[in-house]
Amino acid sequence: MNKKSSYVGGEKFNKLSKKEGYRSRAAYKLKQINESHNLIKPNQNILDIGSAPGSWCQVVKETVKGKSKITAIDILPMQPIDGVFFVKKDLLEISDKDFNHSFDLVLSDIAPNISGISVIDSENMIELLNIEIYLINKLLVKGGSFLAKCFHGNSFEHLKSFMKDKFEEVSRVKPQASRASSNECYLIGKKFKN
Ligand SMILES: C[S@@+](CC[C@H](N)C(=O)[O-])C[C@H]1O[C@@H](n2cnc3c(N)ncnc32)[C@H](O)[C@@H]1O
Repeated sequence: MNKKSSYVGGEKFNKLSKKEGYRSRAAYKLKQINESHNLIKPNQNILDIGSAPGSWCQVVKETVKGKSKITAIDILPMQPIDGVFFVKKDLLEISDKDFNHSFDLVLSDIAPNISGISVIDSENMIELLNIEIYLINKLLVKGGSFLAKCFHGNSFEHLKSFMKDKFEEVSRVKPQASRASSNECYLIGKKFKN
């Protein structure tokens, strides 16, 4: 796909998110991933890492059925969403003690501020992934699932190696709503071994 068609794709989801009331076009990334991988299930406790402005929380809220607790973390403020417990904190300063229960599903769309220097961006992504990995080891229930953003290259390899070790099923996904020109992709781990 060339730059122009990738931009058109991004524009399409920007317009759609305004029309459908989502806070960002990122909503469609989670919707598309969930349609193909069936991550959000009834009665799950769900953690959303890097949640602002909140479109993934909106999708989780409208998709999850039954009794579930939704927790979201971001360093930036997030407008409240009914039923979502929001923690405004730097992920690099978080500990498992910030949570009082475990999770069945952890979603992460977190990304560092991009400098454009790939070595630095990759190192910063790995630093964030290491905190996610720490939280997964402490807080994800046996059999639980983890969806996380990474970049092609070192951060992808780092996350894949953790997931291959700790999850029974691992897959890579690049949703249509993610610009083809973007370096991001997502990895999904299912059936956490714990
Ligand atoms: C792509 S946005 C997430 C969009 C979100 N999934 C949505 O649907 O609205 C990435 C988020 O990661 C957050 N972030 C980046 N570094 C962070 C850090 N160290 N601690 C907490 N949040 C961070 C940013 O503030 C930003 O809101």
